[in-house]
Amino acid sequence: MDQRWIELEQQMHRQGMDTLLITDPKHVYYLTGFLSNPHERFLGLLLKAGSEPVLFAPALDGEAAKAAIGSMELITHQDTEDPYLLLRQRLESDRPIGTFGLEKEYVTLDRYERLQEALQFSASADIGPSLREMRIRKSPEEIKRMRHAVKLIEQVLELSLKQIKEGVTENELVAEVEYQIRKLGADGPSFDSMVLFGEKTALPHGVPGERKLQSGDMIMFDIGVYANGYASDITRTFGFGELAAEQIKIYETVLAANEAAIAAIKPGVTFGSIDKAARDVIEAAGYGPYFNHRLGHGLGIDVHEFPSVHGQNELFLREGNVFTVEPGIYVPGVAGVRIEDDVTVTDSGVDVLTSFPKHLQYV
Ligand code: GLY
Ligand code: MN
Ligand code: MN
Repeated sequence: MDQRWIELEQQMHRQGMDTLLITDPKHVYYLTGFLSNPHERFLGLLLKAGSEPVLFAPALDGEAAKAAIGSMELITHQDTEDPYLLLRQRLESDRPIGTFGLEKEYVTLDRYERLQEALQFSASADIGPSLREMRIRKSPEEIKRMRHAVKLIEQVLELSLKQIKEGVTENELVAEVEYQIRKLGADGPSFDSMVLFGEKTALPHGVPGERKLQSGDMIMFDIGVYANGYASDITRTFGFGELAAEQIKIYETVLAANEAAIAAIKPGVTFGSIDKAARDVIEAAGYGPYFNHRLGHGLGIDVHEFPSVHGQNELFLREGNVFTVEPGIYVPGVAGVRIEDDVTVTDSGVDVLTSFPKHLQYV
């Protein structure tokens, strides 16, 4: 944990912040080990330059927070109390505040105005980019947790495939997936579990429903878990019964794109070049317009986090980056196929965390 605090203090110094308030629960977790969902209640990690941090948390989370943060100062507030007043009181001897750091992407306008009213800081600055830069390089411990999250979701997928039979509905398979997620001991799904059949596989973010499985369908599973605070995210597409030649061609093209992208991963190349490696394969097969999303996204404490893996991203890959590789082709009325892996960049190449087979399988 120490290195993170050192880096954060350096960033505060660089950006001239004298006080910092971190309110994204995932950032609070990253820095303190305390993971919670405060809903609309106030959760904040206060840091003054040169002082020890203080965690403000709802009273109902007080015991859990204490267990996670050890000796760090904790100030809890009841639902009947005004947390902004407590914050003001804690900072009374440090006012006036010059540059106040917060996460612009996370703080609502309402919160910003309350903070300004309570603390009367003279300027604000964004600490969000510094935190996402810190989070982009995972430690060995973080990668270990993600490997575990991947292992769990692959077991879930394997078990869920056993429930496939003609007439089963998408919703029934989602229910099976989520039952297995809990049964295997994960914290929960890392996003709304998705199982789609037939024409619905051509909707990259389709919503599972009462569609019944029939012969000639493709089946798409896009599922993930949170385990020990870290996410996995995998997509596999299968055939049921006999597939048409074009469905098979689409599948093989997506698989080749996925493999081309993974083969291009190593430190020092840009995220944009990885997207291009996959897109070139799909364009050469004539399906360019049907790959209508980016190649992937960063993965970690959030299932979608920095960076966005798209063709314009000039950021260089570095050891410890973890992200998804998920090319897809979605042809309305014909089929949709996506194959999604989770990968980490090593000192010389790539380590693919997901290992579920990728050749076209009929279930
Ligand atoms: N599970 C959502 C995605 O793959 O982006
Ligand atoms: Mn996914
Ligand atoms: Mn994904």
